[in-house]
Amino acid sequence: MIDTHAHIYADQFKEDINEVLERSQEAGIERIYMPNIDHTSIDAMLELELKHPGFCIATMGLHPCSVKADFEKELYIIEEWLGKREFVAIGEMGTDLHWDKTFIDQQVEAFKIQVAWAKQYKKPIIIHCRESLDMTIKLVEQLKDDDLTGVFHCFNGSVEQANRISKLDFHIGLGGVSTFKNAGMDVVIPELDMSKVVLETDSPYLAPVPHRGKRNEPAYVQLVAQKVADYREASLEEILSVTTDNANKLFQFDA
Ligand code: NI
Repeated sequence: MIDTHAHIYADQFKEDINEVLERSQEAGIERIYMPNIDHTSIDAMLELELKHPGFCIATMGLHPCSVKADFEKELYIIEEWLGKREFVAIGEMGTDLHWDKTFIDQQVEAFKIQVAWAKQYKKPIIIHCRESLDMTIKLVEQLKDDDLTGVFHCFNGSVEQANRISKLDFHIGLGGVSTFKNAGMDVVIPELDMSKVVLETDSPYLAPVPHRGKRNEPAYVQLVAQKVADYREASLEEILSVTTDNANKLFQFDA
């Protein structure tokens, strides 16, 4: 099992990160990918990666909710890090119209700049979008070339949107939202192209049922996997095997 998206460097894990990682390993997690947020999260993320090499893996990018008036300064720091060492992916990056629409133009500009870096370094992108899925798919359709790949993380869109993402040869990240009764994923998940699906938690956010509302952690990936298996009337083993293969492909991991 692979958690393709977890912010386990966040303050919420400060007290018990070792126990959290132990529980992940006991649950069968092989690797945890940690998307960056902005300049304030880099130190804690890289420290965790250093302590758990090959298990906790950092990516580098600027989250759309951290795109404000000073976003060029933020991007400069990201650019510097990308030049300094290798990262397996660029992200997370994207658009978010949920909290604050003031900087949407800057979000789009930051997205395009980070896509250019992804093309330059030939790395996949990790896309966050909230209440902005259509516009973000359209953006990727415009910027797509043979090298550009990635994942739409925390997918909760329609079958039609999923098909457009598949056509782009992008992956779909399923997390805790897939287990929420009101999310409508029971109708969408059976229709998904499973060769494009990866699993994630987005820890510490969006914990799956029955932990909804509490702190999320990578071990809960299995709850997401079980829900996907239930919706598709497939076995848990089958879902775990195909999504692990997909995650390895997405992040160009040599198994
Ligand atoms: Ni995230």
